[in-house]
Amino acid sequence: MPKPYVIVSAPVPASLMATIEQKYTVLKVPFGKCPSQVLSPKQLAQVQGTINTVATRLNGKVMDLMPALKVISNFAVGFDNIDINAATQRNILVCNTPEVLDGAVADLTFGLIICLSRDLIRGDAYVRTGQWEQQGPPPLTSDIRGKTLGLLGMGRIGSMVAKTARAFDMQVIYHNRSRNYEAEEAGLAQYRNRDDLFTQSDFVSIHVPLNASTKGSVGAREFALMQPTAYLINTGRGAVINENDLVNALQTGVIAGAGLDVMVEEPLPASHPFCQLPNIILQAHIGSATVETRHAMISLATQNLLDALQGTKPQAMVNPEVF
Ligand code: DGY
Repeated sequence: MPKPYVIVSAPVPASLMATIEQKYTVLKVPFGKCPSQVLSPKQLAQVQGTINTVATRLNGKVMDLMPALKVISNFAVGFDNIDINAATQRNILVCNTPEVLDGAVADLTFGLIICLSRDLIRGDAYVRTGQWEQQGPPPLTSDIRGKTLGLLGMGRIGSMVAKTARAFDMQVIYHNRSRNYEAEEAGLAQYRNRDDLFTQSDFVSIHVPLNASTKGSVGAREFALMQPTAYLINTGRGAVINENDLVNALQTGVIAGAGLDVMVEEPLPASHPFCQLPNIILQAHIGSATVETRHAMISLATQNLLDALQGTKPQAMVNPEVF
């Protein structure tokens, strides 16, 4: 009997691929390509599962080409690349990879905070280009200790950032759609209304998911509330920020600087105005991109796929009502 089809368009290592191939025929789809661009209608019609990155966009139209599809296993905690309502309506289970990347994303958030406040990127250039020799010590920078970190979003990653902030003696405040009493009781952070979060923070770090209500929700109004010495950090999703407003705020000194791991358009074109700004630090969506974390993520995503196809409850489901 022929094995059912699954699509693999995430970096599944050989050992896990071998496990998948014991029971399924793997159809490889290149990174970011839509399955319908690569596979024939006949192949698509037989696909039961897919394991993909956030670069693959899956809407109802694409799902309709795969009537046998039972599970979409996203190799990411975020799932804004998938139309979840469309999947639920079609009884397609969507899985993701929460928790295993919290530490790596929190570490990168702090990497950006430290780079911004201590001006490390310019500091490196200062040494390499001989400015230290010619002009003496570089300008003074600013402390992190004792400063206020404002977390917009207090889920798993926000909480991990708050835990990390303890080591830096920071005061941590947060705003979230619903109060995180567990974090408050653990002394991790104090709740603020949304405007106070922007007004009172020395660093605002974004940890909300991207959805219809958060898209473009941090813009000129929020930057105007921030202090001119404050920094914005985003390791979540680029489209939460209004990028034109951010360019404007950085050019006119409304805020001091920004550290971004995520942008609306990825890869970010080198011609983007962000790349001309001296007060921004950019990274290539690397929050979870460590060997250890990516290994944990792909192991979980693979297990989610296999469990769902075998009727076992997967560890991480976005729309568990389908299971
Ligand atoms: C995630 O897991 O959502 C990361 O941002 C990778 O896309």
